[in-house]
Amino acid sequence: METRRFSFLTETLMSHPNPMVHVIDHPLVQHKLTLMRNKEASTTSFRRLLNELSSLMVYEVTRDMAMQEVQIETPLETMTAKMIDGKKLVFVSILRAGNGILDGMLNVIPGARVGHIGLYRDPATLQAVEYYFKMPQEMTERDVVVVDPMLATGNSAIAAVQRLKVLKPKSIKFVCLLTCPEGIATFTAAHPDVPVFTAAIDRQLNDHGYILPGLGDAGDRMFGTK
Ligand code: URA
Repeated sequence: METRRFSFLTETLMSHPNPMVHVIDHPLVQHKLTLMRNKEASTTSFRRLLNELSSLMVYEVTRDMAMQEVQIETPLETMTAKMIDGKKLVFVSILRAGNGILDGMLNVIPGARVGHIGLYRDPATLQAVEYYFKMPQEMTERDVVVVDPMLATGNSAIAAVQRLKVLKPKSIKFVCLLTCPEGIATFTAAHPDVPVFTAAIDRQLNDHGYILPGLGDAGDRMFGTK
């Protein structure tokens, strides 16, 4: 394997010209992403790495969560300490590949609520077609994190966020593993108010809607369906 040395900045989030786009540049995230990209990675490794990587990414995604102060008793005395405020967060998985990210995030925030959106890409038009939509109650009081490993054409992500906005949640964030300039441009044009968190922005989208160099079909690699 060819190696090059990088000196990492102390910042965790690499800056992007669009302040709504956050590239999570942590060495652990980048290392695991590289292992996942390798075509030799087995289904087991791919799934495990996606799970680990998502657990790491959720720290950055939830960095600005509202906190409240509560009084508690330690074994020695009373103290005022911080806890997360408000109703439980909702992770919304875009089926089916979103479930890989979902599992990793739930490892860190097991009490989060979960919504699912079933969307498939029409192979001819590459447009998103909805076949399933199920959300928790009281969405107006919740912060939402939408997850899908690949922000490629942007069509599924745009459709999912459009559908969620109807429910008027407190906030919406979008998390993916990989995206490309085309995906970012289309998504941020449709939803300029929704921050995007990603581990990398790759070179380009190909004519079949795949990200290059990418990691192939995330769903197939995660579930071993090809
Ligand atoms: N979906 C994938 O799984 N991979 C891509 O490269 C693009 C969309």
